[in-house]
Amino acid sequence: VTHTFKDRFDLPEGVIYLDGNSLGAMPRGVAAHIDQVIRNEWGRSLIRAWNAHDWVNVQQRVGAKIAGLVGAHPDEVLSADSTSINLYKTLAAALALRPGRTVILSTPDNFPTDLYIAGGLIAHLDRGHTLKLVPADEIEAHLDDTVAVLTLTQVNYRTGELYDMARLTERAQAAGALTVWDLSHTAGAMPVVLNASRADFAVGCGYKYLNGGPGAPAFLFVARRWQDQFSQPLSGWLGHAQPFAFTPDYVPADGVSRYVVGTPPVLSSLALEFGIDLMLEADLQALRHQSLALTDAFIDGVHRKCAGHGLKLLTPMAHDRRGSQVSFAHPDGYAMIQALIAAGVIGDFRAPDILRFGFTPLYIDLDDVAVAVDRFALILREGTWRAPQFQVRKKVT
Ligand SMILES: Cc1ncc(COP(=O)(O)O)c(C=O)c1O
Repeated sequence: VTHTFKDRFDLPEGVIYLDGNSLGAMPRGVAAHIDQVIRNEWGRSLIRAWNAHDWVNVQQRVGAKIAGLVGAHPDEVLSADSTSINLYKTLAAALALRPGRTVILSTPDNFPTDLYIAGGLIAHLDRGHTLKLVPADEIEAHLDDTVAVLTLTQVNYRTGELYDMARLTERAQAAGALTVWDLSHTAGAMPVVLNASRADFAVGCGYKYLNGGPGAPAFLFVARRWQDQFSQPLSGWLGHAQPFAFTPDYVPADGVSRYVVGTPPVLSSLALEFGIDLMLEADLQALRHQSLALTDAFIDGVHRKCAGHGLKLLTPMAHDRRGSQVSFAHPDGYAMIQALIAAGVIGDFRAPDILRFGFTPLYIDLDDVAVAVDRFALILREGTWRAPQFQVRKKVT
């Protein structure tokens, strides 16, 4: 069994937390760290803290650290804004770099914000672009000379299927298109190799496997070769070459800094940095190894102990096609997840019928998996999930 960082996290007693793919757990010490930042940096240094505590470079500094987790150069990644906003910026850049091509290609089961943002950008540009959605296994057949950009989430948030980033990027580029990868379900869960895959652009969440805390800033990656070719449309003052010159005209900063929009959320950024510093101590190959051992054990346990209840595995068995989550389909999935949460096993539900379990290899171990399987088996055997209180849909599922 691989060494885990479990004791570096503050997890509630008795809870098996299988939802780090939605909101990562709280690193031990982050509360004291942020308390110190609030009292000393904000409280004592006040406005001087932007220079004295280097708040002014937090987006570049945290980005450079994230670069070490996703196979990028430090000057290619920025921690900024939300994943949605970063999608807008990078998709806009990719379309501008492929004039004359009209198609954004993706899959119908990509995460909704990715599709909504692409649609919103197309409507805003009003230049005849279209969003074409085809099943993942048909992507390659649809890469033709109309495609400006292929955008995919590297691990499908519903099924947990891992796509071949290097291969799809190579195919997209062979057809003359660019790629925007959403790493929300891979960054921090396994090694990601952006430059070795020749990826063009990428985005991802800070609050999932990077353990940055609720609403943590997201990140974006722009390959060096594209950085100075286009300036993204959200031309805010902190992405200016000289923000404190206060000139009326916008001049984009050099490099990835032109993807900065405005003032960063400093407290959230520093909480994210704390989580990333912890992650940087881990060996990503070992984490991947642990992650596959965990998902193997969970799939095997559910097959052995939860058989006969109509659960349908959606996650690929092949290791090279599996992310760090396991999903099952069941028409009563929502109630089952609610009953599991009541029993201390926290997973989540994705409409219409998906029970989703995320395995963060930093703080989940094989003992957790065994307990989770046993509690799941008991709930199914006893039909606990049929109780009325588990049928009521909450706003967040
Ligand atoms: C693949 C993917 N992209 C984006 C998001 C969220 O984007 P945002 O941080 O803008 O809410 C999620 C959230 O679950 C996600 O799974």
